[in-house]
Amino acid sequence: MNAVTAPLMAQFSAPAAGALDVERIRADFPILFNVHPHGKPLVFLDNAASSQMPQQVIDRLVRYQTHEHANIHRGVHTLSEIATDAYEHARGQVRKFLNAREDREIIFTTGTTEAINLVMQGYGRAFLGAGDEIVITWMEHHSNIVPWQMLCEQTGAILRVAPIDDRGELIVEAYQQLFNERTRFAAVTHVSNALGTINPVRELIAIAHRFNVPILIDGAQAVPHLPVDVQDLDCDFYCFSGHKLCGPTGSGALYGKAALLERMRPFKGGGDMILSVTFEKTTYNTIPYKFEAGTPPIAAMIGLGAAIEYVSAIGLDRIAQHEHELLGYATEQLARIPGVRIIGTAPQKAAVLSFYVGDVHPHDVGTLLNEEGVAVRTGHHCAQPVMQRFKVPATARASFAFYNTFDEVDVLAAAIRKVQKLFA
Ligand code: ALA
Repeated sequence: MNAVTAPLMAQFSAPAAGALDVERIRADFPILFNVHPHGKPLVFLDNAASSQMPQQVIDRLVRYQTHEHANIHRGVHTLSEIATDAYEHARGQVRKFLNAREDREIIFTTGTTEAINLVMQGYGRAFLGAGDEIVITWMEHHSNIVPWQMLCEQTGAILRVAPIDDRGELIVEAYQQLFNERTRFAAVTHVSNALGTINPVRELIAIAHRFNVPILIDGAQAVPHLPVDVQDLDCDFYCFSGHKLCGPTGSGALYGKAALLERMRPFKGGGDMILSVTFEKTTYNTIPYKFEAGTPPIAAMIGLGAAIEYVSAIGLDRIAQHEHELLGYATEQLARIPGVRIIGTAPQKAAVLSFYVGDVHPHDVGTLLNEEGVAVRTGHHCAQPVMQRFKVPATARASFAFYNTFDEVDVLAAAIRKVQKLFA
């Protein structure tokens, strides 16, 4: 921690023992009180798309812009040194958050999508060829499908997709059966954004490793809800987005084992990712800088560090416990409403409740819930294969954060009953 960040960090609240004091936490989030859709209190249940930002993170961004901003890694002047220290401090915060071994195993990206594309380009383009196979699952977000399809188009590699069952659980035996001597890569989500299913990633990683296959875990929907330890999981790559973790959009990170990152090709060329450039030959920088060409979103990454500090102070274990209870309560409330069908009923779920209300189109459900102040996402959630699997064009999706309350679940349930009455 440098001299500039130290006093600010002292403002983060120390973890209190026991259950979350949700009302106290909510007071940190100005947007929850500033916006009144249709004159109603905001019930924000679209956290899987993007969560809200606490004042502590907003203050950190303001402080950066008012006291610390300059370009990084480039200047000998005071501000550049302050900005560089703050940016690298944030990298250390991500390393600690994921329990990676070394800071150089953390590459800043603009989010999960960029991280997966980086691995596709940097690893896939370098090491996969015609006939090689990539294993993914049926429950992936488009960002963990399309890059691999692009790689297949470019190299002749083949995509293998592990099926899910009617509850939205991965069929692990079928996943295992997809691995063979031609398998060269695997990419699996930790938590499904459309179904909420928590995958048994430790087991999935172990299976990939039995075949000497490196595996990437998409943690976009996991890190806001569960403690993650990449050394304990032994995954080769792990990525997430800051804006689902109370941080800024345009922030995120890729963890990769150093030995793999060192072998990979750079993703983008430009300033800061080189050691020397001549027209005859360019030598690339060491990791992680080899993958961070150009001026990055410096403020966003510093904000991400502050968001990590904020959620870590509350405690991921306590967040997981509160959200688990909230999801259980919401599932119970919605299951009591005749005509409501829940899509995704795996026993291990995190923070996501996708549903259908009778024959009402999910977009109508979303519009009418908004009139009650309730924000949910409707659509295919960038997971069209999941919709195809459950034979629905779309769902309405309530997704929770640690600042959501049981009362808000009651508002959601009452609003759904109102939708039903309107369409009866
Ligand atoms: N991936 C985000 C979601 O699930 C946008 O809504």
